[in-house]
Amino acid sequence: RRLDNALTIDDLRKIARRTTPRSVFDYVDGAAESEITAERNVQAYRGLTFHPDALRAVADPDLEVELLGRTWSLPLGFGATGYTRMMHHHGEAAVARVAQAVGIPYGLSTVGNSTVEQVRAAAPEVDLWFQLYPTSQEINAELIRRAANAGCSTIVLTCDTAVSGKRFRDDRNGLTIPPTLRPSTIADMAQHPYWWVNKLTTEQVSFASLMFLESKYKFNEIADRVFDSNLSLESLDWIRDSWRGTLLVKGILSVDGAVAAVEHGADGVVLSNHGGRQLDRTPAPITLVPEVRAALGDRVPILVDSGIRNGQDIVAARALGADAALVGRAYLYGIMAGGQDGVVRAYEILAEEYRRAMQLLGVRRSVDLAPRHVSLGRWR
Ligand code: FNR
Repeated sequence: RRLDNALTIDDLRKIARRTTPRSVFDYVDGAAESEITAERNVQAYRGLTFHPDALRAVADPDLEVELLGRTWSLPLGFGATGYTRMMHHHGEAAVARVAQAVGIPYGLSTVGNSTVEQVRAAAPEVDLWFQLYPTSQEINAELIRRAANAGCSTIVLTCDTAVSGKRFRDDRNGLTIPPTLRPSTIADMAQHPYWWVNKLTTEQVSFASLMFLESKYKFNEIADRVFDSNLSLESLDWIRDSWRGTLLVKGILSVDGAVAAVEHGADGVVLSNHGGRQLDRTPAPITLVPEVRAALGDRVPILVDSGIRNGQDIVAARALGADAALVGRAYLYGIMAGGQDGVVRAYEILAEEYRRAMQLLGVRRSVDLAPRHVSLGRWR
């Protein structure tokens, strides 16, 4: 397999850049405004320092964690990302199937290209989450009802999208849904024939376009039609009242925000800056984990995402006090590089790195990772 030559997530990214149209790759790889936060997210992990325990028997590491009523094979989930069938025609169903096979959760986006029913049919046993961009109460109620019927365990309410972040790469590339036929599109077809043949010969249903749109829109316009600028704590109360399952609030970047979300019924929070795709110059979420953990105590689940490109990053997240990490781009680079096999490869890379880092750190069980194992300082 060509994918076996990919030894790191960055290798998958390089393959993805070759195999996917420029505008699609940039949609995934790019971020908001000056992309300062996107860069910072990755640098924050690179700046961490590990402090290994000496002389611990680590031959048989136990990497599982119990979280939100389930057993996870690793403290890792595949986070929600929109339009996954644009990255590769295998789409959301493939990501869900891999999550099912390896025993981690998968979050389906409100703006996925597949419905929650399609994803459930593809992966009957996966721990399926539904990421909610709330709009009108009517549509919310409908989405929540369908998520419940499809057996989703969790709703993830994303709260960092009052309006769409400004992503200049998408503007410059003229990214639209569906694609606009221009001379540059035709040139791209010659360079990426496999992607285009699959694109044009497989059904591409956009959940968002079915619900909100009449015809073709620029990306930022679609987002602004879906996003709710009036999302508030009252919206959270309303969603809490209409959903019995687990409710996570994603996009929290402060202690106060985390405390308020929990006071209004969230079962846990996802510290996230949306991978740097919304407000630029926000903190790297990993740096907030210790203070949010201190404020929420030991019982409230804290997840963290944004910038995770390596299994070591997941070790660090857990050691600093997060229960688990989510990834977006890591598996999207995988699916762009090789469809479902690429998602498998992304998981393998992260899992091997996680396991090796645990053993070298002298920690046999994921549950034994502790703050002493990692510091936020660069050299010590
Ligand atoms: C996202 N993300 C996202 N989040 C969300 O709540 N709903 C969504 O529809 C999307 N869509 C989306 C598309 C793409 C292409 C990306 C890269 C990201 C954000 C995602 O859930 C997660 O917060 C980030 O991807 C985490 O950062 P990394 O892992 O990509 O660095």
